[in-house]
Amino acid sequence: MSFESPDSVVPLPSDTSEHSEPPTRRTFIAASTAVGGAVIAAGVLGGSPLAGASAADASDAAPSTRVSLTVNGARRTVTIDNRTSLLDLLREHFGLTGSKKGCNAGACGACTVLVDGRRQNACLILAVRLEGAEVTTIEGLADGEDLHALQQAFIDQDAFQCGYFTPGQIMSGVGCIQEGHTGSPEEIREWMSGNICRCGCYTKIVRAVEQTAGRK
Ligand code: FES
Repeated sequence: MSFESPDSVVPLPSDTSEHSEPPTRRTFIAASTAVGGAVIAAGVLGGSPLAGASAADASDAAPSTRVSLTVNGARRTVTIDNRTSLLDLLREHFGLTGSKKGCNAGACGACTVLVDGRRQNACLILAVRLEGAEVTTIEGLADGEDLHALQQAFIDQDAFQCGYFTPGQIMSGVGCIQEGHTGSPEEIREWMSGNICRCGCYTKIVRAVEQTAGRK
């Protein structure tokens, strides 16, 4: 299927009489970019019936639902597209960007939050299913200026490098401790295994969980 309307096609240099030389890599890329830009512009400006109509139809047709839930102790009520994940609700609607979107497919744990006290991957939950639920994110963990014990332990143990996956690790660690899965470093590793760390700080993360659980 082609998304180019006839008017949007920009001939490649080899198609024109002014450019009788074979196209160089530079001219080919320039022409390709011009074609892409024309197609994008057509969609943005409504020049492409396919792009314009489908986006509007999808938006108009999307059912929405009013949902009330408690986030970090505050009652929130929103009307949202039924397809909105809890992660997108938190990040895009509430501005709570501490929960990270790593894979958006339940594979990395960067989006881990607590829902009614249980660890959940926020990217896998439809927000409309959370009527009346209590959600805790990394932003709701500290008590004012007082960090949660696990947040402090991450600092004490230097348990992060880039920090991108740290909020999910901490939320998962809080759940792990609350669930009592801290009997040994091996048990902690097993029950934290849904959270990846691309910097490879696993040893220090386990130490931080152990410290908070009172083992160190
Ligand atoms: Fe949710 Fe990776 S972003 S598990």
